[in-house]
Amino acid sequence: MVQVTLEPLKIPERLRMPTVFERAWAEPANRLRPRILLPASFTAPAPIAPGEHRVFMVFNRKGGAGKTTTTLELACVFAAMGYVVRIIDADPQDAGLTGWLEPRYPKGLDPKNRLTLKHVMYGEVGLDDVTYRTRYTNVFLVPSYEDCAVVEYDPAINGERTLRRAIKRSEAPVDITIVDCPPKVGKLSTFTLAIGGEVLVPSQLSALDQKSSESLLRTITEAQEEYDVRVRAAVLTAWGRTVISREVGNEMAEHYPDALVCPIRRSVDATTAPKENKSIREYNKRSTTTLDFDQLGHMLVAPRGAAA
Ligand SMILES: Nc1ncnc2c1ncn2[C@@H]1O[C@H](COP(=O)(O)OP(=O)(O)OP(=O)(O)O)[C@@H](O)[C@H]1O
Ligand SMILES: [Mg+2]
Repeated sequence: MVQVTLEPLKIPERLRMPTVFERAWAEPANRLRPRILLPASFTAPAPIAPGEHRVFMVFNRKGGAGKTTTTLELACVFAAMGYVVRIIDADPQDAGLTGWLEPRYPKGLDPKNRLTLKHVMYGEVGLDDVTYRTRYTNVFLVPSYEDCAVVEYDPAINGERTLRRAIKRSEAPVDITIVDCPPKVGKLSTFTLAIGGEVLVPSQLSALDQKSSESLLRTITEAQEEYDVRVRAAVLTAWGRTVISREVGNEMAEHYPDALVCPIRRSVDATTAPKENKSIREYNKRSTTTLDFDQLGHMLVAPRGAAA
């Protein structure tokens, strides 16, 4: 089995997006340049100290927003920075992250006996018992399959702090947890938000994503009343020079005044990498999508050992 160790990228400065303390793109769409809009409250990221633990929740109630892509690519960026990353796949659809990343179960294990997030939600096992290796060194995965959807309608599952507790009790030396949320508001997404931490909101640049942005803001605002969550970045997936890119970007900056607004350029690599069960970063390390995710990762966390 191939084991890939992810290395830092050597990116010439001219290929990086400029970062600017602006909250709006004003130029005509055909002259738009990708650049990261920083909030006034932005401070340069620090490395994660030993024993410290960061949680990112990749959340949008809209389907096809780029949640799974953002989750995997950032996990790869953080692993290349020297961190141990655990992804929790909280989206029980077979075409999700578990299908893309294919966790390494013990040899000869009958698929019926695989342990998944569902078993954690039922309190049968701890998170470390369902954390599997992947093809990437230091990227681990808690899988879920369609059967995990039972969590949504089984009244026996009502402990909204279950996941939070499971993370607290884990003894694995994980630096960063990233949760890929399901595309709807239900128990799984509520349990995820209850963990508390930093929310990343991916959004595709379409009219339908734009229409759903008000209800997304409402959901996040309501979650903030109950849980310790703050929106760290709006991720504009499959970004291009279009009027709608500019409109969605500006709206995100307005809705989430303390968040980065980060374009991730559209590329064919992003759509073909999953076919080979590879991250975009592994599939093409020169892809603009790879470069943009790398830059976003470095805006959120500094590499291990970097000067604080
Ligand atoms: N930068 C990009 N360029 C081109 N296509 C992209 C890019 N990012 C994501 N996509 C494509 O957008 C689609 C949706 O992405 P993804 O599966 O990550 O979204 P999702 O929010 O997880 O979807 P779901 O709600 O179904 O879980 C995929 O086909 C993916 O390949
Ligand atoms: Mg997904």
